Amino acid sequence: MKNDKPLACIILAAGQGKRMKSALPKVLHELAGRPMILWLLDEVAKLGPEKIIIVTAPGAQQVAEAVSPHAIAVQEKPLGTGDAVKAALPALKNFTGDVLILLGDMPLITAKTLEALIEKRRQKAGTGLAVLGAEFDPPPAFGRLVLGPGGALARIVEEKDATIDERSIKLCNTGAFCVDGARLPEWVGRLKNNNAQKEFYITDLVELASQDDLEAHSFITRNHDEVRGVNSRADLAILERIVQQKLRASAMENGATLIDPSAVYFSWDTKLGHDVIVEPGVFFGPGVTVDDNVHIKAFSHFEDAHIGQGSVIGPFARLRPGAKLGEGCRIGNFVEVKNSTLGKGVKANHLGYIGDADVGAGVNFSCGAITINYDGFEKHRTVIGTGAMIGSNVNLIAPIEIGDGAYIAAGSTITKDIPPDALAVAREKPFIKEGWAAAKRSKKKKA
Ligand code: UD1
Ligand code: MG
Repeated sequence: MKNDKPLACIILAAGQGKRMKSALPKVLHELAGRPMILWLLDEVAKLGPEKIIIVTAPGAQQVAEAVSPHAIAVQEKPLGTGDAVKAALPALKNFTGDVLILLGDMPLITAKTLEALIEKRRQKAGTGLAVLGAEFDPPPAFGRLVLGPGGALARIVEEKDATIDERSIKLCNTGAFCVDGARLPEWVGRLKNNNAQKEFYITDLVELASQDDLEAHSFITRNHDEVRGVNSRADLAILERIVQQKLRASAMENGATLIDPSAVYFSWDTKLGHDVIVEPGVFFGPGVTVDDNVHIKAFSHFEDAHIGQGSVIGPFARLRPGAKLGEGCRIGNFVEVKNSTLGKGVKANHLGYIGDADVGAGVNFSCGAITINYDGFEKHRTVIGTGAMIGSNVNLIAPIEIGDGAYIAAGSTITKDIPPDALAVAREKPFIKEGWAAAKRSKKKKA
C-alpha cells in the first residue's frame, strides 16, 4: 500500500455462530474448499500489516491451527464486539499505527475496499476512525449509520436500540473499521454496555471519538457481495456462489472454455492451462492442476490430481488423491484412478480401477481391468512396464510387476510377476456341452 503508516488488523471470530448449528467453528466453514477465514487473511495480507490478531472463543484450537502463524487472542466470554477488540489489545501494546477491525464471518471483502477505508481514516486531519458502510433497501438487522450535520458520522445505532425513524435509515454498518491505534485502547476502555443487548459495542467508538473532538467518517461500498456475512448455512451457500462465479470468470480469463460456467465447480487452488475445455457437471476438489489442451468431458470429479497436456478425461471419470496423469492420457467413463502415476498416452477408456500403481507409457487398460491393491490389511503397489496390454476384465493382484510390452489376456487374474513381452493367460478352459441349452428348454416346456 502506498501509505507507509504501520497497519495492524484485528479479526473478530469469537462469536458463537449458533445459527450454523455446527461443531466446527464458523470461520472454518469452507468456501471453494478453503476455510473462510483464510480467504480474508489473504486479502488482509495484501495490505502488508505488521500484525494480524484473530480473536477466538476459548478452546478454539482448530482456529488457532488454521490461522497460524498469526496471533490468537482469546475472548473469555462473548460480551460483545467491543469486548472482543479489548481481548486483542495486549498483542498491540505500543502500536500507534492504524488498526483495521474486521469480522471473521465477512470473508469476501477485498484489499481494494479496505484500502479505501484506510484512506478515509487518513485523508482528513482529525479523523479518529472510519467505518465501512453500505446502503441496503430494505436495511437488514445491521447497525445504522447516523450522520451529523457536516456529513461526518454522529453515531452508529444497533437495530435493537434504534427508534422507528432510525430503523428506516438505509446506510448500514458492515462491521469493518479503521481506527487510530493511538486512541483505540483508551476508547475501548471507556465502552459501556448500557444497551438493549447488554454488550460492549465497538460501534460506540464513533461517539467516543466525537467526545474527544475527533470525527468519524464512513466509506460506502457499492459492492454488496463483498460485505455479505455468514450467519447460517444458507448464507454460506450464497457466498459459495459468489466465490464460484469469481473462480469461473478467472478460469475463462486465463484461457479455458467452460461450456456452461454455472455447472463447473472449482476449488480455490484449481489451476487450468490454456485451451482446456470443461464440459458441464465437472467438480474440482482441492489440489488439482491441469496442463494445456486438456478436454474434460461431462460429470467428472477430481481431487488432488494432475492431468497432463492433451489428455481427454471423462465423461464420468474420477481422479482421486495422488492421481498423476502424463501427457495424452485417455481416462473414460467409470474409470477411477487413485495414488497412481500414469505415463504418456496411457488409456483406460471404460470401467476400471487403477489404484496404487505405476503405469508406463502407452499402457492400455481394456474395459473392466482393475488393480487389486488392498488385501484387507495393507495397500500394495502394481508396477506396469511401458507398452503393456492389459486385457478386459483383468485382475492384477498387488504387489505385482508386469514387464514392458507384456500381454495379459482378457479375463485373467494375475497373482505373479510377468516378464517383459510375455503372454499371460490365467483363466479356466471353457467347458462346452453341445445341445445342452436346447435340451434343457424342451424339458422345461414339457413339464
Ligand atoms: C455487528 C455490528 C453491527 C453490524 C453487524 C454487521 C456491533 C455492536 N454491531 O452486529 O453494527 O451491522 O455486525 O454484521 O458491533 N464477536 C466476537 N465476540 C463477541 C461478539 C461478536 O468475537 O463477543 C464477533 C463475531 O464472531 C462476529 C462479529 O464479531 O464475527 C460480529 O458479531 P455479531 O454478534 O454477529 O454482531 P451483530 O450483532 O451482527
Ligand atoms: Mg450480535
